[in-house]
Amino acid sequence: MRCPDFPCHMHSVKPRAHSSVVSMLQWKKKILKSVGFFFCLLITFTFLLNGTSPGLFTQDQQKDSGSQMLSNQKRDTYHAPDGFWEIKSKLGPTKAIPKTELQPTEWDIYSTNCSANWNITKMEWYKSLEPHFQQFILYRHCRYFPMIINNQQKCSEDIELLIVVKSIITQHDRREVIRKTWGKEKEIDGKKVRTLFLLGTAVREEERANYQKLLEFENIIYGDILQWNFLDSFFNLTLKEVHFLKWMDIYCKNVKYIFKGDDDVFVSPENIIEYLDGKYRPDLFVGDILKNARPIRRKDSKYYIPTALYDKTLYPPYAGGGGFLMSGSLIKKLLRASETQELYPIDDVFLGMCLEVIKVSPVLHEGFKTFGIVKFKNSKMNKDPCFFKNTLVVHKLLPDELLHMWKLVHSNLTCTRKFNIL
Ligand SMILES: *[C@@H]1O[C@H](CO)[C@@H](O)[C@H](O)[C@H]1NC(C)=O
Ligand SMILES: *[C@@H]1O[C@H](CO)[C@@H](O)[C@H](O)[C@H]1NC(C)=O
Ligand SMILES: *[C@@H]1O[C@H](CO)[C@@H](O)[C@H](O)[C@H]1NC(C)=O
Ligand SMILES: *[C@@H]1O[C@H](CO)[C@@H](O)[C@H](O)[C@H]1NC(C)=O
Repeated sequence: MRCPDFPCHMHSVKPRAHSSVVSMLQWKKKILKSVGFFFCLLITFTFLLNGTSPGLFTQDQQKDSGSQMLSNQKRDTYHAPDGFWEIKSKLGPTKAIPKTELQPTEWDIYSTNCSANWNITKMEWYKSLEPHFQQFILYRHCRYFPMIINNQQKCSEDIELLIVVKSIITQHDRREVIRKTWGKEKEIDGKKVRTLFLLGTAVREEERANYQKLLEFENIIYGDILQWNFLDSFFNLTLKEVHFLKWMDIYCKNVKYIFKGDDDVFVSPENIIEYLDGKYRPDLFVGDILKNARPIRRKDSKYYIPTALYDKTLYPPYAGGGGFLMSGSLIKKLLRASETQELYPIDDVFLGMCLEVIKVSPVLHEGFKTFGIVKFKNSKMNKDPCFFKNTLVVHKLLPDELLHMWKLVHSNLTCTRKFNIL
């Protein structure tokens, strides 16, 4: 909900071309060397692919029984309030499946076999929608997609704080700066902080092949990418949310806390660790919480939501998607709740709906400035490192601003004013 200039995920980064003049002999040597190097990379890469995304190479047996049954069974666990979804009620009740505890041990979606729901195209409200909205509605029922890049070893240690960043394939520069600043993997007071980036596939056809190769090399270097085979569009951010929940439930069950946020924010992991104070808080969900937000009904708005999609006047309380903190114990509950809900085009609202289902109230915290920065647009605070030093999350900073601010905050900073936020 904090992506004012849709489509905001469209900036692209061009790989840097470099040329050099070298003598013929050196040149030949160089070519031979790089052929060898490339060959090695290719082998590593093939090996990696084989190891991490079995779906690309093997046909599976359990995909029908396993995942289908699991989601049906989970669907029975929670009930959405009556009249919550107009469309849902039209589709009729889901069949009851005997309850068995089925827990997949790996990502169990190996093929994308989901066709558009053409039935809906006959409805009047559908015809009046923007094309990107129509695209969302047509594929709304497609819930899970195969993985392209997995890093299942990520959670093999005891992690106190897992930093999870929503990223898109073309924005390599943002990932790079995050790895150097707040996403740097480290220990704070002996507590492990680890980082993952969540991605789909490139929206534009011409970007797909080249950026995909670059991303795969990037992952060989850093091993911090999770990528699924769905288009990384604004409305598919909710898919990213549910894929993340499912992935966490399979591979990362013992993480204590999760910070999840955008790639254009400033975060202080030190302050987050200090705030958490080593305590165990089972149902913690804190962030920049919006209460009594209304769905936007103006058709010219990017966030327009037809009543056919959501007919209540207010959204449940939800955290701005720029960054929020939650305890790992919420993952399984949220996953189950998410599977009782139809996908909603706005990811942070969707998560608010899931929180409502499990009856967890998200808590507002002053340290999360994911909307606030707009209010203070002309305020000196926006440039004041002392402000950043004493906060948890601030939106919005571009890579070089982030790097600059990070250095200022971590220099020998003397602050006369005290912002007491923790
Ligand atoms: C996809 O689904 C269609 C019909 O639902 C089926 O005929 C087809 O074999 C499926 N393809 C794969 C790859 O599972
Ligand atoms: C579309 O409508 C047909 C006939 O009413 C029905 O059999 C089918 O299940 C519907 N498809 C979806 C995806 O709802
Ligand atoms: C979401 O991703 C799926 C799979 O790539 C795609 O079919 C669908 O059109 C996307 N939805 C939107 C709204 O972009
Ligand atoms: C910051 O201060 C400490 C102690 O006063 C000093 O050792 C250190 O070199 C200083 N760092 C910078 C970047 O000035």
